[in-house]
Amino acid sequence: MFWLILLVVCFLGIDLFLGIRFFEYVYSAHIRHQPPLVQANKILRCAVINYINANYKNVKNICEIGSGFGTLARAMAKKTGATVWALENMPFAAFVSKFMDLFCRGYNKTIWCDAFDWMDNTNMVFDIAVAYLGPELTAKIPRYKNKIHVLISIDFEIKNMKPRHIIDMGRGATIYMGKKYPHRIFIYELNHK
Ligand SMILES: C[S@@+](CC[C@H](N)C(=O)[O-])C[C@H]1O[C@@H](n2cnc3c(N)ncnc32)[C@H](O)[C@@H]1O
Repeated sequence: MFWLILLVVCFLGIDLFLGIRFFEYVYSAHIRHQPPLVQANKILRCAVINYINANYKNVKNICEIGSGFGTLARAMAKKTGATVWALENMPFAAFVSKFMDLFCRGYNKTIWCDAFDWMDNTNMVFDIAVAYLGPELTAKIPRYKNKIHVLISIDFEIKNMKPRHIIDMGRGATIYMGKKYPHRIFIYELNHK
């Protein structure tokens, strides 16, 4: 009997998680018209982390603009040793990310906020900002060049800005607003030390 109750509770928990996640996805994409939660896959996450470790060895603090469940943010905190500020505006995603921070072997701090309002109001300066957003929101990030030294953008390039480096993953793509963006990582030095 105990196991049956446990099984039913687990199923209900999973259903609830998937239901809220689906609701937030639809709300993000169709009501707020912002990039919905799509996680960067493991290959992209490893490529971002390897690039940071190879090129910016003394990185102290990183922010992720639009961090979803914080999978990439926590991996960066663990594998680069930097303090990571994960900025996410969807409440359920931020809640899950905050909960998972408790188990993070690194220092990842999730903040539930509109990332752009937060950046407007913070006095912090970040060695690196990472973003996996759509083209319109990514294009807004260079305005924070006094607060961000290096921007790493997954899949979305900024028009009229020359990246320091482009890593072409060679396969896979993000489909955003019906358009296909091949998996590439764009590195911009906005204001490198
Ligand atoms: C494509 S997902 C990337 C998630 C995460 N970077 C990952 O790879 O797992 C984009 C995320 O940005 C969030 N987002 C979009 N606009 C935002 C904003 N103005 N402020 C904070 N988060 C935002 C969305 O809710 C979504 O979770």
